[in-house]
Amino acid sequence: MKPLSPTWQPLDALDYSSITSAFLPACGQPVTLSRIVGGHAAVEGSWPWQTSILLFNSHVCGGSLINPNWVVSAAHCFPSAGTPYEVQLGAYKLLDPSPNMVTSAVKRVISHPDYSGDGSSGDIALVELNSPVNFTDYILPVRLPTSSAEFAADTRCWVTGWGHTKFSEQLAPPHILQEVEVPIIDRDTCNQLYNKSKGYQLKTDPVKADMICAGYEEGGKDACQGDSGGPLVCKSNGAWTLAGVVSWGENCAQPNQPGVYTSVPFYLDWIKENININNGGLSNFPRVTLVLLTFASALL
Ligand code: ARG
Repeated sequence: MKPLSPTWQPLDALDYSSITSAFLPACGQPVTLSRIVGGHAAVEGSWPWQTSILLFNSHVCGGSLINPNWVVSAAHCFPSAGTPYEVQLGAYKLLDPSPNMVTSAVKRVISHPDYSGDGSSGDIALVELNSPVNFTDYILPVRLPTSSAEFAADTRCWVTGWGHTKFSEQLAPPHILQEVEVPIIDRDTCNQLYNKSKGYQLKTDPVKADMICAGYEEGGKDACQGDSGGPLVCKSNGAWTLAGVVSWGENCAQPNQPGVYTSVPFYLDWIKENININNGGLSNFPRVTLVLLTFASALL
């Protein structure tokens, strides 16, 4: 490997000290400043619900912590049941973990039953942690929207993750969490854009009722491969609210091909049902008690 050119400078305040030569940018390749696509490094602790889903120690997807036990992610991130996924919470530099990071085993993954492959509806999954995580300044849940919440066109939202910085370019080491602002694009407009872009293999109106778009008609800023499952958050009434889950897009950051996200309001009831039913059946307690009491009083 040739030495890096004298004009090459470490980016921002990135700490490359812990990186082996295997992770250095390839020889002669320009060091690109774009991250996520068209974004930049987040400040540590800015997005404390962001998680990294790992399989055999490699980052495969993002996810969002919604309470001490549960992370929301995308169904397409979990193609095979029974695989030993793990969740990293409080993560920032994936290749240079700080003591703020906690790794948790996964108790189970509930993928939405409607999910049936690329581009289908129901690209959402609930990931249960083995044991509840302790909240810290770096590990906190995001707020869930109501099921009737609407994120209007042009609402300024943010997507975060450790995904590619171009369709075929991985995030540079040490894999610092990236962020980019992407305005909401309403579904009809988004379908019109995709219909006009005549993307490869896409059918007419690919953006289904349970999906929401965010990005720019002209492209340039977007989520990309590896950001999937991660959060699209919008600030509403002073709190960051989970509007969407990174799901798909044709290529990344191309004109007329905005990022497509699974709508969280659309699946809010499903999320609630599954989280309650699966928290030790406690949600059945009042009903069972009522039935027993009725029965007991009939005996008296
Ligand atoms: N499906 C991709 C993943 O598995 C994410 C795609 C998001 N693409 C986009 N252009 N917004 O990571």
